[in-house]
Amino acid sequence: GEIRCAGDTIVIGLAADSGCGKSTFMRRLTSVFGGAASPPKGGNPDSNTLISDTTTVICLDDYHSLDRTGRKVEGVTALDPRANNFDLMYEQVKALKDGIAVDKPIYNHVSGLLDPPELIQPPRSLSLKVCTQSMDLVAKDDVDVKYDERVRDLLDFSIYLDISNDVKFAWKIQRDMAERGHSLESIKASIEARKPDFDAYIDPQKQYADAVIEVLPTQLIPGDNEGKVLRVKLIMKEGVKYFSPVYLFDEGSTISWIPCGRKLTCSYPGIKFNYGPDSYFGQEVSVLEMDGQFDRLDELIYVESHLSNISTKFYGEITQQMLKHADFPGSNNGTGLFQTIVGLKIRDLFEQVTASRASAPLEATKA
Ligand code: ADP
Ligand code: G6P
Repeated sequence: GEIRCAGDTIVIGLAADSGCGKSTFMRRLTSVFGGAASPPKGGNPDSNTLISDTTTVICLDDYHSLDRTGRKVEGVTALDPRANNFDLMYEQVKALKDGIAVDKPIYNHVSGLLDPPELIQPPRSLSLKVCTQSMDLVAKDDVDVKYDERVRDLLDFSIYLDISNDVKFAWKIQRDMAERGHSLESIKASIEARKPDFDAYIDPQKQYADAVIEVLPTQLIPGDNEGKVLRVKLIMKEGVKYFSPVYLFDEGSTISWIPCGRKLTCSYPGIKFNYGPDSYFGQEVSVLEMDGQFDRLDELIYVESHLSNISTKFYGEITQQMLKHADFPGSNNGTGLFQTIVGLKIRDLFEQVTASRASAPLEATKA
């Protein structure tokens, strides 16, 4: 067989519906890896790529094979496999993982056209922002299953952001009505129009994810549907190589914890944590849950000091990251906290993978 040197690149997959926090998550992840990300210098101003010293974030919208007009003519949405080139996606992600630069296409979100490609150099760690079309595509009659398996096999870790319908609706209203001037009816209509393909192609991906961040309405305020106070679950799969789930107090037991009191300031409706083993799509998982929101971010250190397996490099690193990006959406609740924790776990995974590759530099492939 062929002998090659294993690369230094790990590939992370992140999937969620549009407007559900993927960009925010990627900004937190890049920050944990060190350094801020910006678009490629001197390139297409409409590029979807973000590059820092350590990470490159690629948006898989760039693998649309049909542009906006093409999709209209064919009558398919951007989420449909027929609108996306999974062959090219696989080839290029594989090349980058193997340390080879690629000419990646660009889907221009402003014009709706496919722009000339941009050169992407192999990064140390590659994050694939699955903007919505699926990578972990489930078997569908019209899709060749081997493609999704091939791309999924390239992922060293995968995350799914699962925003419940009520919360998604509240966020969309906040953004599209307040900031973009859309009407309530048009927001409802656009969510409804996307739903069938979201249910078919995006939502099923969560069962394959190594970690899922699930965002639900609070249970602390009876009948609440404002979507301001959130209950957030971090669902962590057991038995994933180089990933050991975070726990509260005692690994594997079931804990309910109200940290409010002398050491943590809480106003109504307070904060409640839950932790314990569970099952998710028939798989063994650990779940950490936070309901409520922080009043004072600097007091987060009190919560952080009670969590274990958080893969920090120094005492208080989670709190420091949260304070640093206090302006990002979700910084006062479980969405920001769990995104930060997953970022730290991925950094740890990166270090373990590259250390193991360094100690076994020559790897004989089976072929
Ligand atoms: P995506 O990249 O998935 O489209 P973004 O990260 O750009 O999503 O977030 C889109 C919008 O969704 C934000 O501007 C904000 O209005 C809302 N949002 C995202 N994450 C949160 C959060 N954790 N809490 C509240 N609102 C959020
Ligand atoms: C949604 C999807 C993207 C897709 C985009 C295309 O935002 O999440 O995957 O690229 O639609 O929409 P457009 O407005 O450019 O036709």
